[in-house]
Amino acid sequence: MTIQPAADTDLELISSLIRKEFPYTEATLDKLRQRLAGKKLFLFKQVEGGQLIGFIEVEALNMARARINGLVVREGFRGKGNAHALLQFAMDFIKQQGFKEITLLVRQSNEAAKKLYGEHGFAFLRPHAVKLVDEPVEEWYLSLFTEPPCGVC
Ligand SMILES: CC(C)(COP(=O)(O)OP(=O)(O)OC[C@H]1O[C@@H](n2cnc3c(N)ncnc32)[C@H](O)[C@@H]1OP(=O)(O)O)[C@@H](O)C(=O)NCCC(=O)NCCS
Repeated sequence: MTIQPAADTDLELISSLIRKEFPYTEATLDKLRQRLAGKKLFLFKQVEGGQLIGFIEVEALNMARARINGLVVREGFRGKGNAHALLQFAMDFIKQQGFKEITLLVRQSNEAAKKLYGEHGFAFLRPHAVKLVDEPVEEWYLSLFTEPPCGVC
């Protein structure tokens, strides 16, 4: 299994997975291409046996804050640690880029995703103000800021 930047040829499949899992986004191939052209978006695919089995999307919101917009593992490849690997990869990437915090949105009922995020140190921050779907959506948060070792205090 490898994780690498998605190529243009992957975008049709990825946009169809976004439409399936997050229909309210009304994602299309063109919209995804436009968002990627904005250069604030990083899209990584997970590949096994030459097949795309998942992806994760990272968006730079500002100099300090990145948001994980999408994390999907295709049915048939779930329950095998693939989301753990994708999320860890994205978190390492975000740290390397120098961001100090990560946010993400998750449906209140998405227990699998919330458990995953909790295991990686994320915590509930607040209810999301904007109504996206017919159920509450939560904003979760992880601070990457670590205090330097204090030698004098
Ligand atoms: C959520 C999702 C990404 C998990 O993918 P996955 O590859 O099955 O996850 P993993 O096998 O890596 O498991 C990671 C963790 O997720 C949680 N998890 C996964 N499936 C779960 C389930 N059915 N019930 C409860 N927790 C679950 C657990 O915390 C698990 O870690 P653990 O086994 O060490 O406890 C996948 O179900 C998916 O793509 N769902 C649809 C899209 C989605 O909801 N994305 C998240 C949007 S915020």
